[in-house]
Amino acid sequence: MTVFDASTRLDVSEIFGRCVRERLPALTAPYPRVSLRDGMNLAKASSARKRIAVIPGDGIGKEVIPEAVKVLQAAAASGGREVTLTEFDWGADRYLRDGTTLPADAVAILHRDFDAILLGAMGDPRVPTNIHAAEILLGLRFKLDLYVNARPCVLFDKRFTPLKDRSEKDVNFMVFRENTEGLYVGMGGNFKKGTADEIAIQEDVNTRKGVERVIRYAYEHAKQRGLQRVCMSDKSNALTFGHDLWQRVFKEVRAEYPGIESSHQYIDNLLMQMVRDPSQFQVIVTSNLFGDIASDLGAQLAGGLGLAPSGNIHPGQVSLFEPVHGSAPNIAGKSIANPMAAILTVGMMFEFLGWRAEGQAIDKAVRGALKEGKTPAELGGTLSTREVGDWVANTVAKSGFAS
Ligand code: NAD
Ligand code: IPM
Ligand code: MN
Repeated sequence: MTVFDASTRLDVSEIFGRCVRERLPALTAPYPRVSLRDGMNLAKASSARKRIAVIPGDGIGKEVIPEAVKVLQAAAASGGREVTLTEFDWGADRYLRDGTTLPADAVAILHRDFDAILLGAMGDPRVPTNIHAAEILLGLRFKLDLYVNARPCVLFDKRFTPLKDRSEKDVNFMVFRENTEGLYVGMGGNFKKGTADEIAIQEDVNTRKGVERVIRYAYEHAKQRGLQRVCMSDKSNALTFGHDLWQRVFKEVRAEYPGIESSHQYIDNLLMQMVRDPSQFQVIVTSNLFGDIASDLGAQLAGGLGLAPSGNIHPGQVSLFEPVHGSAPNIAGKSIANPMAAILTVGMMFEFLGWRAEGQAIDKAVRGALKEGKTPAELGGTLSTREVGDWVANTVAKSGFAS
């Protein structure tokens, strides 16, 4: 990912300035319609062998991914499925060793040779700039054009929500986070850096195409699952250019889904409402940064970061699956990280690949572990990361299901 210096930034503003002044085309005309039928629900050939790239990354990523892979193999074997796994050592160790972040040919190889990517986490205190994480994780999201970050917030067992008097029926919603633009594009720069007169600029990029496709994806998700409510969240009362675009696109797309109850909440209110009454939400769609924040809050409502999976999706193309949590340096190396988020992430990946029964078997086994108290410290239990992985993998291996 390029970080623009001050002089380049002027050119970039020029380009975006010109875009804003251009007459924009009608909303639905030039862009292909996004349909879940292209991706999430029906994989190209669900019976074929799937090729999965595995990037454990940093910190607890290296502890939880082996457990997720164990469960992946157990579920694939139970369902009579074939997978090939290829591990890539991208992360802080590699960066510190030889300066590699995302190799130049990585995107082409992933596009050409893989059906899905399983990633642990990126982030290491030895790399305080976080440059490797930006280039690998954000680089893959951008360069593979993974425009939807789907982050389910589903409470499996009411004992694990911090909310008083709430149960499984109250916390069951999806956060769709725009994943290729917003404040994450890395446009900006510093002027007079390190002086008392320093200026730092971080551009917030919102395109009509980018906003429309993620909002439409959220509606299609709701429609195909028979859900009744979609809530779009922005900060258009303050961000009067970028999020005004979100408002206008939302109004146009929502009109195409009259059977779905559409609502809007400003992001500050949304976060408060998620705590006050999460049962009002079924589908939330929001910008890149707001979705990042809302999904950590949602994860905790559903029991903790160690239970939160996610998918970075471009329907019909190679997509990347990772737990919502980071590398957790504060617990890395202690064998206490909860691998359930990474394990549930494999379930999401299988659903994306069209291996529904295998994905459901994984969810069921995790629910079983929670019910039986086979939990790590995060959830009040005593099991190590590996013991949780073993328990879930054995349960999946023993579970009979028809794929
Ligand atoms: P974090 O998610 O790593 O940890 C936040 C808190 O949750 C910590 O107390 C941690 O111990 C706990 N936690 C997280 N996952 C857990 C698990 N599976 N089991 C038990 N406890 C768990 O967030 P952070 O501390 O803000 O960030 C640490 C590093 O990870 C930073 O470098 C950050 O940039 C990076 N990060 C990466 C990703 C990613 O790769 N997708 C996501 C978030 C943060
Ligand atoms: C996430 C992480 C990343 C993000 C960081 C590591 C850049 O917090 O995946 O939620 O902000 O997207
Ligand atoms: Mn995050």
